[in-house]
Amino acid sequence: MNLNSQTSSSIRKPKTFNNPERFIEGWYWVIPSRNLRVGEVKPVTILGRELVIYRGKDRRVTTFDAYCPHMGAHLAEGKVEGNALRCFFHHWKFDAEGMCIDIPCLDTPPSLKLQTWPTAEKYGMIWVWTGEIPQQPLPFIPELEQKECDVAIHSPFLMNCHPNVVMINAIDTQHVNTVHKLPIEIIFERQELNENAIIFSNTTNIKENSSFIKLIRLFYKNAITISICYWYGSIGIVTLGPDFFHIHTMFAVRLHEGGKAEGQILLITKKRKGFFGWLSNRVVLWLTKIAGKFFLMDDIKIVQTIKFDLKTPIKADQSIMQFINHVERQQSLMWGTWQEARSRDVESKPKRERWQDTASND
Ligand code: FES
Ligand SMILES: [Fe+2]
Repeated sequence: MNLNSQTSSSIRKPKTFNNPERFIEGWYWVIPSRNLRVGEVKPVTILGRELVIYRGKDRRVTTFDAYCPHMGAHLAEGKVEGNALRCFFHHWKFDAEGMCIDIPCLDTPPSLKLQTWPTAEKYGMIWVWTGEIPQQPLPFIPELEQKECDVAIHSPFLMNCHPNVVMINAIDTQHVNTVHKLPIEIIFERQELNENAIIFSNTTNIKENSSFIKLIRLFYKNAITISICYWYGSIGIVTLGPDFFHIHTMFAVRLHEGGKAEGQILLITKKRKGFFGWLSNRVVLWLTKIAGKFFLMDDIKIVQTIKFDLKTPIKADQSIMQFINHVERQQSLMWGTWQEARSRDVESKPKRERWQDTASND
């Protein structure tokens, strides 16, 4: 088999995948919802951009650029008033749309708008869209799309490699045998959910020749599901289990300084009614945690030390190549500025110009 001819078209250096300066325009996790109470304001830095988030009286979360357009005070020093935010320095006040609605020493404030970012909450987390208008829904688990869920949020982590590299671990079929020592053959089939989401599902039957498989076979007879749904090349939802009982683990990751990955692990299950529903969900989430630990323990060594460079792909790396191509096709932005990465002109456009453009549109 000539490996080079088989894969040469797809192994040219990717522009976005594993690039420490770029990320895909999308929804990214900010902080757990429980960490921002009504009336609270906090500074956050997401994908290199300094922001401020606050929760108004109506419980909605708003995200602004961090610095006051008057003289540059950090707005996280300010105060939430109703659904608006007042700057600490000269008390200019901005509503949730970013409009300046009060300047104490002026009768009428000038038409002035702060840069705001679309913000939403799901799975117990606050999420921000890194562009003007969201092009996609918040990341969801396909089989639980319309369902209410119970979520357990784990502590955040920092890994020494790019989020894209963290993601591919779940579809790296060879390492399931070598690192996790599971003697199962996995062949993934891919299905694009939309421009920013892709699902890899196992198509092979799992043989019963390992003790691990024998153990879980005690609980069911039919096929095991292994599927991974990716959003924005940076969020991976791993779904495991027999037909009637699936466990879902979401790895919500974003690009940190120096090409590292900062992430949050969410254990998710569909809501079950009543006390027994609540109790069984505690058990389900606990089982999800055990399964996650089983896989993560061995992966840690890889993600902390790898210098990813897929120089010699073979057929078994096919899903990884497909994931790389999927990442390459998406709209990428520059880390820090959130400007489009495709054109040089856009990259070098100063932030102030963009802000004034937005203001003059209103
Ligand atoms: S710097 Fe914010 S009001 Fe002056
Ligand atoms: Fe793994």
